[in-house]
Amino acid sequence: MQIELLKFPYSYMEYEKELQIRELKVLLPDVEILSDTKHSTIISGETISADNLKELTYYCAYILDGVRSPTHQGLYEQDNTMRVVKQHTRYSTHGLHEYKGKFNPQIVHAIANVFGVQRGQAVLDPFNGSGTTLVECAHAGIEAYGTDINPLACFISNTKVTALKMDMVKASSRLQELKRVLAQPVAIDFTEGDERLNYLYSWIPRETLCILESIRQEVENDEPAIRDFFLVIASDLIRDYSYQEPSDLRIRRRKSPFPEIKFSDAFFQNACKFMKKIEQVQSI
Ligand SMILES: C[S@@+](CC[C@H](N)C(=O)[O-])C[C@H]1O[C@@H](n2cnc3c(N)ncnc32)[C@H](O)[C@@H]1O
Repeated sequence: MQIELLKFPYSYMEYEKELQIRELKVLLPDVEILSDTKHSTIISGETISADNLKELTYYCAYILDGVRSPTHQGLYEQDNTMRVVKQHTRYSTHGLHEYKGKFNPQIVHAIANVFGVQRGQAVLDPFNGSGTTLVECAHAGIEAYGTDINPLACFISNTKVTALKMDMVKASSRLQELKRVLAQPVAIDFTEGDERLNYLYSWIPRETLCILESIRQEVENDEPAIRDFFLVIASDLIRDYSYQEPSDLRIRRRKSPFPEIKFSDAFFQNACKFMKKIEQVQSI
């Protein structure tokens, strides 16, 4: 049996080329590599597991008997226009919240393959950051645990994983309800001397704070997956809509103008974008 494995159309880094060959040898140990070019690898073998072919990270598809089938990674990295133009690192729930120092999801997936991690085994990421490892394990059906000293990192990670199983019909209907509520956000009672509010007002415009508070109140009693999904979407926007200079990692007052699009519109746009991504992952 001879199979052509098709690579993604972007250039691979040296470490990716090495991971690509190493995971091939682990997932398909009995095959012979007949040729390896920029665009594809041709392999041959007596028996080749279709399940393992689909797990390859650095191939978007394979051709067997003239029939082209996508790998899981090929499906994840496919954008809405059905083209793959560059390596996507924000597919699925990976891009749900900014976090400095994320792994590329592809690295995690490839390393799990190289280690031969399988269903029934467990993975621990003791410094889980915003959860790239945990999400990749969830995709593969591998039990995974994470810890992090930063509570926000734990919150984002848990949300990214639970959002994968979110009931999309319920989530869509809650989003419609949020639209109705945010048309008239709550007014926050400003009491002089309230240290917490004074602090928040010094960093976030009142109008934005009222929208944030409305979102928080509205989703408070929702099931955790849906509640946290909307909270994380809102949280990811706060920096851009605060008095902090968004591009500066240090604490600096902003000099750049606020985004032109309103906070609530950005919130709805991002919620819709990620709901589409989650539906795509659920279908895979
Ligand atoms: C680069 S991130 C990890 C990325 C993550 N492994 C992934 O899959 O994307 C490093 C994380 O280590 C966490 N960290 C640093 N020191 C720690 C400690 N002593 N205990 C737990 N977490 C720690 C930081 O809070 C940060 O979130």
